[in-house]
Amino acid sequence: MQKIEWTEELEVGVEMIDTQHHALIDIANNVIEAAEKGEDKEAVDKTITKLREYTVFHFNEEEKMMEEIRYPKRGEQLVEHSRLKREVKDYQRLLYKRKEVSPDEIQTFVTEWFFGHILTFDQELSNFINKTDEQEDVKEDVIEDAREDAKEE
Ligand SMILES: [Fe+2]
Repeated sequence: MQKIEWTEELEVGVEMIDTQHHALIDIANNVIEAAEKGEDKEAVDKTITKLREYTVFHFNEEEKMMEEIRYPKRGEQLVEHSRLKREVKDYQRLLYKRKEVSPDEIQTFVTEWFFGHILTFDQELSNFINKTDEQEDVKEDVIEDAREDAKEE
């Protein structure tokens, strides 16, 4: 079967995002599987609807997170999220009009659609989050050192 494999390179290092990306890939694989089994249009359509629903959930979660941490590039991410949501919606429509659906084609679509997003945008977001964490650690160390010094004097 034409599954999308999860590889370590896809991990961005932020637990919530990675867990949800895993789930997204699982759902995307269900779409490919349904097409591969030659299930009827309605069945394939149902799996794509699930993919769309989970995508909306995932993007909302990311958007909440970006808002909380005041991510400077959140404007760009929002634009990208709406584009990706529209893209999958358009694709669902396109497939529905077809007589037959090809699992290979679905795999290509999902791969480009999804990987493009993770590898660029979410990686950048993760770099920002992890850098902020590091800076917080440094800040804490400096404060701790200052306290130690104060005690010694
Ligand atoms: Fe994401």
